[in-house]
Amino acid sequence: MRIAVIGTGYVGLVSGACLSDFGFSVICIDTNPALVETLSQGKETFYEPGLGDVLKRNIAAGRLHFSTDMAVGIPEADVVLLAVGTPSRDKSGEADMRYINEAIEKIVPLCKQGVVIVTKSTVVVGTHAVLSAKIKEMRPDLEFSLTSNPEFLREGRAIGDFVNPDRVVIGVAKGDRRGYEIMGKLYARLESCGVPVIFTTPENAELIKYAANAFLALKLTFINQVADLCEKLGGNIDEVSHAIGADKRIGSAFLRAGPGFGGSCFPKDTLAFAATGRKAGAPQKLVEDLIEINCKRRSDIADRIIAAARSAQTKTIAVLGCAFKDDTDDIRESPALAVIAALQEQGFVTRIHDPQAMAAARALYPEGQWCATAYEAAAGAGVCAILTEWSEYGQLDFPRLRSIMSGAILMDMRNLYSLEEMAGSGFDYYSVGRPAVLRNAV
Ligand code: UGA
Repeated sequence: MRIAVIGTGYVGLVSGACLSDFGFSVICIDTNPALVETLSQGKETFYEPGLGDVLKRNIAAGRLHFSTDMAVGIPEADVVLLAVGTPSRDKSGEADMRYINEAIEKIVPLCKQGVVIVTKSTVVVGTHAVLSAKIKEMRPDLEFSLTSNPEFLREGRAIGDFVNPDRVVIGVAKGDRRGYEIMGKLYARLESCGVPVIFTTPENAELIKYAANAFLALKLTFINQVADLCEKLGGNIDEVSHAIGADKRIGSAFLRAGPGFGGSCFPKDTLAFAATGRKAGAPQKLVEDLIEINCKRRSDIADRIIAAARSAQTKTIAVLGCAFKDDTDDIRESPALAVIAALQEQGFVTRIHDPQAMAAARALYPEGQWCATAYEAAAGAGVCAILTEWSEYGQLDFPRLRSIMSGAILMDMRNLYSLEEMAGSGFDYYSVGRPAVLRNAV
């Protein structure tokens, strides 16, 4: 089976690379010649653990190709995956379908009879019906199937999530036997390994993607609010999360309190889901509220760090992490960047380190002092704030850190350390939803 993938972002590139690893012949098409050139050499265009190996292996095996030219891959493709971006359109939060529409306009004239077109991008609910009508109008002669196959992979864990997902969701129109069969073949390998492959309607598939992301965002926003309560009442959010997550009906994932969610998905997808609810006359009040709560959380976290710095009478703050989470160089909607902006606005000197994301962030915050290591960032700082949960920030050498800082305040906004290990660390330690550990405590 020959597959063409339109778009080489996270979803497109990871899907294309992993499908070629399943043995399919895959061509990934992107309008950006520089990306295509880099990828053709087997080099990743973003940091994603394990991706480089998959690319190199499949390019060498002759199963994975890259091109800017639709005319190269589309005419032979049995399956065309649409994996272009669907950013927020405007303040309404609705998803912008421009790139999907453009892709359809370019591929449909080139498609062969019997093609299966798959929307992998996160699309407005109702897109299947709109695109079906559009394709029929463009090519009344074309026999095609249009299916919806939302992707649930996480950045930083993308390869593992693609090859070992909790489930695959496939939306196929009623009576579309070819769509059903070809999509079944695409994921036969996963199904044979016991992965549930859930067939549903295209509208449900479109809804499932938004509802899944909104629910996860809700879960972690909830735990962040419980963390606030723990702080007021002297509780410990890690113990609360652990115990409630042990209830299988709740589950332990997405119960890590922190500075709120960011990234290219939750922020835009929660906005789009809320917009969809309003438009359909079924407002998603919980989702509307969580968007606001998450937004405020960033300034609350910044305020905490600012208050600590003022109490320590320091003007210099070390910031560890600017990616929106660990194992990615993605800084889109990163809570860490919102905090950095707030610190700079208040006149603080920010000394920043991130293992992967500095190249992108540096351009946005030229006032920051960008440092090659966490220790370099900490040099001369009165406060050190951990904002991204990189594992290296959970292994800091405290005596070394203490000796190079001008102060002794560690603000761990990702709860990377246990309170026990922080006692006697030489720091006044503040985390999220847990009691402070102070040097002079009796
Ligand atoms: C998210 C979903 O998890 C994927 O299933 C989905 O495919 C993807 O969006 C998408 O729609 O493309 P991703 O944005 O890569 O994946 O990152 P997550 O691991 O979900 O983390 C999102 C944010 O929540 C991060 O800022 C992270 O730090 C935060 N988070 C996550 C917490 O603060 N606590 C947690 O317990 C979990």
